[in-house]
Amino acid sequence: MKIELQDLNHRYDVEVLRELTFALEGYKSIAIIGVSGSGKSTLLRILSGLERPTSGSVRVNDHDVSNPAYRKSVGFVFQSHNLFPHLTLLENITLVLEKTRGHTKKEARDQACRFLTMLHLGDQVHKLPRNVSGGQAQRGAIARALSVGPEVIFLDEPTSALDPVLTYEVLNSIKELRELGMEFVLVSHVMTFVRDFADYVVFMNAGEIGEHGPPSILDNPQTEGLKDFMAKVP
Ligand SMILES: Nc1ncnc2c1ncn2[C@@H]1O[C@H](COP(=O)(O)OP(=O)(O)OP(=O)(O)O)[C@@H](O)[C@H]1O
Ligand SMILES: [Mg+2]
Repeated sequence: MKIELQDLNHRYDVEVLRELTFALEGYKSIAIIGVSGSGKSTLLRILSGLERPTSGSVRVNDHDVSNPAYRKSVGFVFQSHNLFPHLTLLENITLVLEKTRGHTKKEARDQACRFLTMLHLGDQVHKLPRNVSGGQAQRGAIARALSVGPEVIFLDEPTSALDPVLTYEVLNSIKELRELGMEFVLVSHVMTFVRDFADYVVFMNAGEIGEHGPPSILDNPQTEGLKDFMAKVP
C-alpha cells in the first residue's frame, strides 16, 4: 500500500490533525495507535475518503481520496457497527453486493453466507442487528466490509466488541485475506494485535504523528510520547 499525506490539517471546533506530511509504501497492514482523542479515527476516516480534510492532500495507492470512485474501492468497519437496522445481517450484505457490485441474488447470498460463517454468524444470518449482541453486530459489519473484496479495508478498533476466542478467529480471517493480497489500515488499542498483524505502526499524539516505523518501535520508543503511551497500555 502507498499512503501520501501532504500538509494535512483537520479541524472540527478545534484542530484535530496538524500539518501531517508523511509517506509510506510497501506495507500491507498498517496500525494506527495512540491515546483516546489523539486523532486516530479522524485520520482513518480521511484516509478512507469518508471525511474531507479541512486542507491538504491525501493519496492512497495513487488515488486521490476525494475521488468518489475511491470510496467504492475500500471497506470500512467503524468503532461501533453501522449496519442498516431494518435489515437482517444477511440482507445487510446482500443489499450491498446486489446494488453496488451487480451480484445476482444467489451470488450475493452465497458470498454473504461465506463471510458470515467465517465470522461465526452462520446461525444469526436472519436476525436484525438489534436482536444480536454488540459483538455479533460488529462481526456482521466486518463480514460486510470483507464481502465486497475491497482494495483496502479500514478497521477502527474492529475487535473491541469481541471476546478473546472470536478476536482470534477474526484476526485469523484477516490474516488469510492479507495472504490473498488484501491491505489493511487499522486502529487498535490492543498491542498484541498490533505486534502480530501490523507490518507498520503509526503513533498519533495530539493530532500529530509522534513516531512511526515497524512494530519494533513499540519495544524501543524514541519519543517521550510513545514511551509514555507504552508504559500505560497493557
Ligand atoms: N464529529 C466531530 N465533531 C467535533 N469534534 C470531533 C468530532 N469527531 C472527533 N472530534 C474530536 O476530535 C478529536 C480526535 O477524535 P478522534 O475520534 O479522531 O480520536 P481517537 O484517537 O480516535 O480517539 P478514541 O481512541 O477515543 O477513539 C477529539 O478531541 C474529538 O473530541
Ligand atoms: Mg477513535
